[in-house]
Amino acid sequence: MPEPEPATRILPAPQAMSEAARLIEAEDVVAIPTETVYGLAGDAGSGTAVAKIFAAKGRPSFNPLIVHVSGLSMAERIGRLDPLSRRLAERFWPGPLTLVVPLGSESGIHPLALAGLPTVALRQPQGFAGLLLERLGRPLAAPSANASGRISPTTAEAVAATLHGRIPLIVDGGQAGVGVESSIVKAEHGRLRLLRPGGLAAEELEEAAGAPLLRPTQDGTAAVEAPGMLLSHYAPDAGLRLDATDIQAWEALLAFGPRRAANAAAARVVLNLSERGDLAEAAANLFLFLRRLDAARPARIAVEPIPRHGLGEAINDRLRRAAAPRHNSSKREVEK
Ligand code: TXA
Ligand code: MG
Repeated sequence: MPEPEPATRILPAPQAMSEAARLIEAEDVVAIPTETVYGLAGDAGSGTAVAKIFAAKGRPSFNPLIVHVSGLSMAERIGRLDPLSRRLAERFWPGPLTLVVPLGSESGIHPLALAGLPTVALRQPQGFAGLLLERLGRPLAAPSANASGRISPTTAEAVAATLHGRIPLIVDGGQAGVGVESSIVKAEHGRLRLLRPGGLAAEELEEAAGAPLLRPTQDGTAAVEAPGMLLSHYAPDAGLRLDATDIQAWEALLAFGPRRAANAAAARVVLNLSERGDLAEAAANLFLFLRRLDAARPARIAVEPIPRHGLGEAINDRLRRAAAPRHNSSKREVEK
């Protein structure tokens, strides 16, 4: 007889705090809301907890996890923050910014969470995750709470769609406000390299750093530095056609702004990321709307052009990865 699936409970955030803390202290894992996307959290110092995260996600273990902290002082016990990284943390934490810094000598982070790298990615999140960190007083390893290769979850239902039965608890904090993952940067000799565009606009980072960002090349060279940034990524089942200006009747349409592409009325189903053309609203809706369109099982999802400035950079990055060619049916093996 097959083993019965372990039950997954879904609790509203206000009531879930002590149960989430209890499970983390018992080296188990919990899906928790953050302001960017939902994370699958475990004690970053526990090999057992980190192994459970990898197992639940089906994630290749060479991909390191972001370590979430309760603030700058916890961050400085784990990594060695240079002056620029410290300034960015002071300015943007808690918030959608992850800093990659050299690992300290007594970090207390389990090596499995770091995938052997001499650096660590640190972030102080907002909301329930931030409160949980304060209560625990310990860092939490937490990748996005999706099965490897799938779109990051921005609601508790989206977490349940891929992780139900694999984890004991999903904390429901409603729809994530930012909607795309954090921006990941690394200071290099006083300059800032963007490893992943995300919920903090490049313009804001450049203003704070006082210089243009160093950027990875478009061909995926960044994969060396941010191992999770493989090209095929965030995959819905349907194929994606980007910058669509003319819609086919059998396509679903992911629209943006007040003006429609030609023939848009013919689309099987239409969702507009932001009627008023607001990029922050579009980022918040991106993964949820991709899931909803995908659920209508269209042969393809056409996406209207989305401006590339501000949060448009992260939106276009995620769409480009979702549209990238995949290895046949093996997209579940593709991070992340
Ligand atoms: O908003 C977010 O960042 C969410 C929430 C839950 O905090 N987390 C998230 O984690 O997106 P994840 O694991 O799905 O993506 C983390 C990325 C991966 O691409 C990983 O390769 C990269 O961070 N990363 C982790 N440690 C790194 C390091 N030391 N150097 C470079 N990249 C690193
Ligand atoms: Mg992820």
